Amino acid sequence: MTDSVPRRRWTFRRFSLMTALAVVAGIAVPLLVIHEPAAAAPLRQHATARGKFFGYAANAALLCNNSATCTSGQDATYRNIGQTEFNQITPENSMKWQITEPTDNNFQFAEGDGIVANATANGQTVHGHTLLWHQQTPGYVTSITNAATLRTVTNDHIAQVVGRWAGNATVTGWDVVNEAFNEDGSRRGNVWQNVIGNGYIAEAFTAARAADSNAQLCYNDFNIEGINNKSTAVFNMVSQFRQQGVPIDCVGMQAHFVLNGIPGNFQQNIQRFADLGLTVRISELDIRIPSPTTDTKLAQQATNYASVVNTCLAIARCAGITVWGIDDGHSWLPNECCPEIDPLLFARNTYAQKPAYTSVHNALDNGTGDTTPPSTPGTPTASNVGTTTATLNWTASTDTGGSGLAGYNVHREQGATDPILATPTTNTVNLTNLTPNTQYQIYIRARDNAGNLSAASGLVTFMTGQVNDTVPPSTPGTPTASNIGSTTATLNWAASTDTGGSGLAGYNVYREQGATDPILATPTTNSANLTNLTANTSYQVYIRARDNAGNLSNPSATTTFMTTGGGTGGCSVTPTLQTQWPTGYVFEPTTVRNTGSTTITTWTVTFTLPAGHTIVGSWNGIFTINGQNVTVRPVSHNATLAPNGTGTFGFQVSRPNGNTALANTFACTSP
Ligand code: XIL
Repeated sequence: MTDSVPRRRWTFRRFSLMTALAVVAGIAVPLLVIHEPAAAAPLRQHATARGKFFGYAANAALLCNNSATCTSGQDATYRNIGQTEFNQITPENSMKWQITEPTDNNFQFAEGDGIVANATANGQTVHGHTLLWHQQTPGYVTSITNAATLRTVTNDHIAQVVGRWAGNATVTGWDVVNEAFNEDGSRRGNVWQNVIGNGYIAEAFTAARAADSNAQLCYNDFNIEGINNKSTAVFNMVSQFRQQGVPIDCVGMQAHFVLNGIPGNFQQNIQRFADLGLTVRISELDIRIPSPTTDTKLAQQATNYASVVNTCLAIARCAGITVWGIDDGHSWLPNECCPEIDPLLFARNTYAQKPAYTSVHNALDNGTGDTTPPSTPGTPTASNVGTTTATLNWTASTDTGGSGLAGYNVHREQGATDPILATPTTNTVNLTNLTPNTQYQIYIRARDNAGNLSAASGLVTFMTGQVNDTVPPSTPGTPTASNIGSTTATLNWAASTDTGGSGLAGYNVYREQGATDPILATPTTNSANLTNLTANTSYQVYIRARDNAGNLSNPSATTTFMTTGGGTGGCSVTPTLQTQWPTGYVFEPTTVRNTGSTTITTWTVTFTLPAGHTIVGSWNGIFTINGQNVTVRPVSHNATLAPNGTGTFGFQVSRPNGNTALANTFACTSP
């Protein structure tokens, strides 16, 4: 790191630059120069009170001298701050492949052991980072070209490294795969992608679960903090994993931000991952400043940091934040990433708390200094239980921490995520919009004005009444397809309403296929992200709404879309004029032939209609007509053609009386 940054005048919480310089110069400094007593609780205490972790990326040399016991490190101030301010550690490098298995079957755990020992001694957790990554992986791995060999080497690495700390309660999770996507949402071409293919990520998660059945298994990446092509590709992958039962628990958003560069839809993006039942971690936070650093930019950095903390606080399933280092002097920036500098909470050399430290602190304690949660509320009792309503009462909590009782969160116990049904300010609530004929288990947590949450009350269980609803919901609108990829598409439609009393439960998305129409998705809102589609395939889809009594609406109209991507064969088209008369003609069959050497899964035929000619009938093809230009795509039975295989379609044209011209300029392309 360079020290050539211009001198700046920061006001630090504990030390001024003058103090630091005076200390270095050996000048006696009167205690008065210390601006504030260091009475404020450390970040970890406030974070714990808010139900979050607040961690840092640990450098094994500074913290532990790279030793397995970690009784001292190369930098005592660094070590002291690491131990007191944070309750979570991600090893910055010590658990990467390069360190843990530098040559095949030569496992080196000293650095990792040291960090885990230090964390255990200080009541911190460790998040393992990282198993599969295109960087910091030795050449003996990245040069493998045989899939079976790569699988063996990879599964062995995962088994040994995860297995090393599988029984250790300090190590709570792993980044199983790191940075597997490009910015456009395609897969990054690392060795696993190139040699094993798309399935390698699911295989790695399965191997990690086999090695540690308790660890939280995460996918980790950068530039997935906002809603963009990359985060959507990750979103689609992890949703698919959840549907398929691939063991994934969390997504790490690295959050290597540049000053004032936090995406506007950061919270919305975290929320969509949280809504899948996943935990989200802000896994490598730093906010770098374009040089030179000024007081104004430091103040903006402080505001940026507070906004990240507040975003995580706003989402129950955001588990916490890890900052990627302690002090600006030991950040990976700018040397290893970007020209910007000074991205962390503590200043280089002096370790003085920067404005960003103060803003993180204040965001975590809501400005109150209160870290004592309210007392546990009494077990609620349920009364006036109707079909969709119920009243709950409970004995009130008291708050002794100073910030005062703010209210209560009324949770429904549901397993992985317990949604909050209401947030009353007094010790009673009228629940509405409940689902008829459904069992509810409810508990209460009290909140104070610093955001501290009490322990959960006991559970009350009740059953809502049955309604005799035989009226189906209204017919949903015709779906429109967007974001069409090779295996994914998004559908949106106008919502249905339910007047029968049981309430709208959701929708079934069907694929029109003849006798039985399979259900592709069952969303609860009027949109669906379809995944697992087949490339180069025509999908005709329609929607039916469901209510809570199980009544199904009439089907919506259908929409047809075509997935992208696919094979490399070529094709030809041969039109046969079957018959003609003065005002029209029929081409049947029009034969499409696969002229390539691999099977094709789709084709596109184009041809031109002379002026005044119009298509009046067509069969066995999906026709799109744009002026005189006609495009024909296959239907399901003639889309896939083996080499030299053929499929046919036909059409009838009407033309002006006496005009003898015919459709012409037929061409075929595939895909
Ligand atoms: C960085 C470390 O901070 C450096 O010390 C190392 O030389 C390179 O890797 N994304 C990640 C982290 O997932 O592992 C990277 O850490 C930073 C980017």
